[in-house]
Amino acid sequence: MRTEERQKAITETVDRIRDCTRGRTIGPEVLDDIKQQLIRLAGETHLFSIEDFPGPEADAKRRSCLYRLSEDDDHGFALYLNVASGAVTAPPHNHTTWAVIAGIEGQEENRFYKKVPDGVKQTGSQVVEQGTAVALMPDDIHTIHIKEGAPVLNFHMYGRALEQLDKRNFWNDQEEVWKTFPAHTDIREARS
Ligand SMILES: [Fe+2]
Repeated sequence: MRTEERQKAITETVDRIRDCTRGRTIGPEVLDDIKQQLIRLAGETHLFSIEDFPGPEADAKRRSCLYRLSEDDDHGFALYLNVASGAVTAPPHNHTTWAVIAGIEGQEENRFYKKVPDGVKQTGSQVVEQGTAVALMPDDIHTIHIKEGAPVLNFHMYGRALEQLDKRNFWNDQEEVWKTFPAHTDIREARS
């Protein structure tokens, strides 16, 4: 029952998001509308709980994992649930497509940056938690910071599926160079 209710809520949300982008150029206004849709879906906490979306096994190296909730046939409008159990940080990176993150449970700090000749300089930050969301344009740069403690669940939605994004850059602080993330592969299928 809960699976059906969840699938219906996801499908309706993604349909609304697809509709609201039709004929519009992706920019802050459209991303704001997408944020509102994902915040609304994130409010259905009984559908997106740690019981149904467990975090990585205790001995796993990565402390977060991704579940695919929706993806169009052409790999557009990819919606994932990200669950972290333990400390997680991601280096400064872009996405090469638009991205929206909305909080379901726990707190994920997002820090934003601009490029400077010797790397990046922070320009702001926002905590993503229940009732809030952040949006990024394809070239925007952010880092993610999750503290150890309670599990953190949130939605990550991208203009294109992560397996298709093989040109995302990240700043390697030790070597002081921009590098390219390999395309994501370890995504758990959660579509029914
Ligand atoms: Fe990111």
